[in-house]
Amino acid sequence: MQPRGLSVTEAYAVADRLPGWLTEDQARCLYDAAAAVPPGSTVVEIGSHHGRSAVMLAAALPPAARLVAVDPFPDDWRYGAAGTEAAFRANLAGAVLADVVDLRVATSAEVRAGWHGALHLVYVDGKHDYWTCRDDLRWSEHVVAGGTVLVHDAFSSLGVTTALVRELATSGTLRYCGRVGSLARLEVARPRLTDRLRVLKELPWWGRNLLVKVLLRLRLAALARALGHHDQADPY
Ligand SMILES: C[S@@+](CC[C@H](N)C(=O)[O-])C[C@H]1O[C@@H](n2cnc3c(N)ncnc32)[C@H](O)[C@@H]1O
Repeated sequence: MQPRGLSVTEAYAVADRLPGWLTEDQARCLYDAAAAVPPGSTVVEIGSHHGRSAVMLAAALPPAARLVAVDPFPDDWRYGAAGTEAAFRANLAGAVLADVVDLRVATSAEVRAGWHGALHLVYVDGKHDYWTCRDDLRWSEHVVAGGTVLVHDAFSSLGVTTALVRELATSGTLRYCGRVGSLARLEVARPRLTDRLRVLKELPWWGRNLLVKVLLRLRLAALARALGHHDQADPY
């Protein structure tokens, strides 16, 4: 389905010009998930930055569906800067997607506190500390049975991973389906024991990614390369 007239390849050509953290495979995963929601439904994105992921989600939406993008754009965030909100708006307008995106300049917790209505897809890529991520995962309470929750940096961040593993170990309504790099795909469904065990199998990959991050901070990129990481940026 190409409701906005943008194929996944065209959407990625737009998104790839924007700063942000999303591989092509992850971008395609977002596009496919958004294309699968029913017409007229709502998708929520937590953490929008310059719109790299929002372009992929918005470009794939079926008719009458909308993307609610949530970001307070704090200047004091590591990559935050004055003008990020304006850049997001301009990037979505430039891709002729602004009319399907409802930007909320607020924290995830603030928007969720007043949220009513069912969702079919939530993308979590906001603040990466344990407590905020645990709170962000509560957006899944608004997702219909069989709906999807995608979590970025699921296996490359101390805070996100510990929040996610804790949630998936105890949740009776979220099952782990797999990952694209560090983008985890969850379904709102009763987890089986095999789903819970599958998460634990990812932990060596998480350990490798944390080690790569330490090596990059120590300027030991050659050692990171020996672990298969060929980028200057952290793994995601
Ligand atoms: C990793 S970036 C998101 C990247 C974006 N998804 C992309 O594709 O480029 C994290 C974002 O979370 C936002 N953020 C920080 N605190 C937040 C909060 N409490 N609620 C929602 N977003 C938050 C930051 O402003 C930042 O834009």
